Amino acid sequence: MRNIGRASGAANVILVGLDNESMGMVREVLAAEAVLPSSSVGFGDALEVIDRARPDVVIVGYTRAVDASLQLAEELRRAYPNIVMVALADMPDSAAILGAMRAGYKEFVVLPSDANRLRQTVHGAAFHQADDEEKGRVISLIGSKGGVGVTTLAIHLAAELAGIHRVLVIDLDLGMGDVAPMMDLTSRDSIGDLVARSDRLDERMLSAAVVVHKSKVNVLTMPDDMQNVGEIRADDMYNIISVAALAYQWVIIDCGTFTHDAVTLALQVSDTTILTTTPDVTAVRDAYRRMRSFTTLGLEKERIRLVVNRWHKAAYVSKKDIAQNLGIPVAATVSDDPRHVEQAVNEGKLIRDVNRRCDAARDIATLVAILTDDGPVAPEGGGGPEGGSGGWLSGLFGRR
Ligand SMILES: Nc1ncnc2c1ncn2[C@@H]1O[C@H](COP(=O)(O)OP(=O)(O)O)[C@@H](O)[C@H]1O
Ligand SMILES: [Mg+2]
Repeated sequence: MRNIGRASGAANVILVGLDNESMGMVREVLAAEAVLPSSSVGFGDALEVIDRARPDVVIVGYTRAVDASLQLAEELRRAYPNIVMVALADMPDSAAILGAMRAGYKEFVVLPSDANRLRQTVHGAAFHQADDEEKGRVISLIGSKGGVGVTTLAIHLAAELAGIHRVLVIDLDLGMGDVAPMMDLTSRDSIGDLVARSDRLDERMLSAAVVVHKSKVNVLTMPDDMQNVGEIRADDMYNIISVAALAYQWVIIDCGTFTHDAVTLALQVSDTTILTTTPDVTAVRDAYRRMRSFTTLGLEKERIRLVVNRWHKAAYVSKKDIAQNLGIPVAATVSDDPRHVEQAVNEGKLIRDVNRRCDAARDIATLVAILTDDGPVAPEGGGGPEGGSGGWLSGLFGRR
């Protein structure tokens, strides 16, 4: 992340809709970073004040005026795209975080736990030129069911990107995480160590906790003893991904198959989610259920890419069937190639290092393209979990 210094060094901040208590906390946190106004302005006056002051940062009291906060963000985003907007909330809440980010808030903070991140954001805004430096892209992978190849694809996608970009893989498959063993890596630190300190996490702490593969892929591992789902909360995850997206150009998250709060949050903040299935009836049926839960979570279809792994010509379910039943096209397939993939797994190697020209290696090399395309166009007469003239799965498994 490039930071090109500006002479004054202190950011200009406007506060909107904060009560006295929040004002006090913000003042305490930002004393050394910013020029703060003596009072907070109401939502009604905000645009006029901002137009006059042209601040670097606008901090908005979010929780008690959600609608006004969202509306202000929409207006500011259009009129002053360079102003950094921060939503100051009373408590962490996945849905609220998602709503705020969609409206254009760059950060969602709860004080005092996110004091460090607020300080960093305001500090960063003072160094204006670097502002446009976008956060890294976040890609989550989730399986229709266990064993369909999520970890294999996550690792190999990361290895393709790592040729020219800074890439981090986060293993978020609780209790089952096998990114490290599959890459033949051992690590002293893991995501567990960061969770314990997520409220004061910074890039330095993150890079101290990762382990680096020879492909240059960085990995944040999952400890074996992390069985308890409650151990990683959504707001811990939000902090970790936020910092990761500052430090890396690509953050690839192996979500396994089990949806808990941290995975839900990861899916919500991801630019793209790769849903992986194999071409058999049980896996496709589970993919259908997954699509339905994505709809409930509010993940738009445009952000989802469907990848069929272990594809082979004699597959029982055709690509057309899969697309029609799930309501999104198959973005890519990766060939079933047990000989090379198993050798890679057994030897802790990348498939391309076993045989660069094998079917699986070739398909994986082109998989990256699905991350930069325009998103799925619904197949003709497509069904999918949220309605339409569905395929045969809807008859078989019912729909709501
Ligand atoms: N394209 C493929 N061809 C053959 N075997 C594969 C392929 N992709 C994955 N596998 C095998 O399937 C098994 C499960 O893969 P894994 O990535 O661990 O799945 P998941 O993370 O979804 O549980 C592994 O033994 C792996 O070698
Ligand atoms: Mg796995």
